[in-house]
Amino acid sequence: MVKIGVIGGGQLARMMIPAAINLGIDLAVFAEAEGSSASLAVTHVGDYRDLGELQKFAASVDTLTFDHEHVPTGHLVSLRDQGIRVYPPPEALSLTHDKIVMRGALQKIGAPQPRWSVTSSEHDRESALVEVGGFPCIAKLPVGGYDGKGVRVVSDWSDFGDWLDLGPVLLEEKVDFVRELAQLVARRPGGELKSWPVVETRQRDGVCSEVIAPAPGLSPSGATRSQRIAADIAEGVGVVGVLAVELFETRDGSILVNELAMRPHNSGHIFTELSRTSQFEQHLRAVADLPLGDTTFISDSGVMANIFGEVNVARASQTLADFPQVKIHSYQKPARPGRKAGHLSVVGDDPHELLGVVIQARAILDSAGYDGGHE
Ligand SMILES: Nc1ncnc2c1ncn2[C@@H]1O[C@H](COP(=O)(O)OP(=O)(O)O)[C@@H](O)[C@H]1O
Ligand SMILES: [Mg+2]
Repeated sequence: MVKIGVIGGGQLARMMIPAAINLGIDLAVFAEAEGSSASLAVTHVGDYRDLGELQKFAASVDTLTFDHEHVPTGHLVSLRDQGIRVYPPPEALSLTHDKIVMRGALQKIGAPQPRWSVTSSEHDRESALVEVGGFPCIAKLPVGGYDGKGVRVVSDWSDFGDWLDLGPVLLEEKVDFVRELAQLVARRPGGELKSWPVVETRQRDGVCSEVIAPAPGLSPSGATRSQRIAADIAEGVGVVGVLAVELFETRDGSILVNELAMRPHNSGHIFTELSRTSQFEQHLRAVADLPLGDTTFISDSGVMANIFGEVNVARASQTLADFPQVKIHSYQKPARPGRKAGHLSVVGDDPHELLGVVIQARAILDSAGYDGGHE
């Protein structure tokens, strides 16, 4: 039996479990703490920054993959040098560690992206600002940001606050986008690649809140370009597994790359119900070097809504009764304000109707109150 080890015990690892069961893959999870979301498959609890612990875990599996991208690249290179398969490869994964490195790699590949520059001191900041078209622009901490933390709209140097003291900051033109999209693809080690149709993602305070699939009203050319961009990146950096490319659609119809994730992604959760192959199954197939599954949609559309705050089981039963067409995914995570605790999915014909249904269902379910529970 193929044995795949997942570093990280979050909801992405959790949702790989049913896919692994169906494929007959033995899944082992390296979690940071007891009681993690993926605890059903946890075989090791420890610190992923400790090479010795990673080695011990890796010795028990055939292939390593990830629920998050925080493992130091040097550790992954050492593990690979010891003969362990690491997918995605450390060099590819390292692009997601640093948004400046990522922008540089995208430029080499020729992927369309916002104008960007790097500023590291008071001396170079004016020229960096000119390169992105002046204020207002977007400033990003290159390392450690997620869910909009580490991203600021800046209209004045004083908006930087302490950031310049922390080291280089990525500046980007503030894209006047009409909406955000995400294109997911999966790639096998030999290059076989499969794409899902591009989806629309809606953010609230920098955090993904709903996903509509496929992106309603997107031109066929926009859809084709999105797939091409993601395929070129997957090929160009040698991704193995799922690659999620966050995109901006601009007023003039351009598609620009925002950022990358090399693992299953929040924007692909809807594929569990909507596609013949979920992103979790596809990720496992890719990293186990098995033929990729069919990504065709089995319904016209689908909508996913994240749940913030606690998934309250008592209210969940009411949601299940009122909305039998809605699927609930609980991550079994302790509640913390603004934290994703689960998601809801529904598939059908009319995306606007589906969005209404899923938002109503969420309003009943989300005990912390969607508005109140959001940081
Ligand atoms: N260059 C940009 N122009 C306009 N909005 C942006 C830009 N970059 C990021 N954003 C907004 O900020 C959100 C978070 O930025 P992102 O780089 O994806 O950070 P995170 O790693 O926190 O997801 C994006 O989803 C988008 O809404
Ligand atoms: Mg993002």
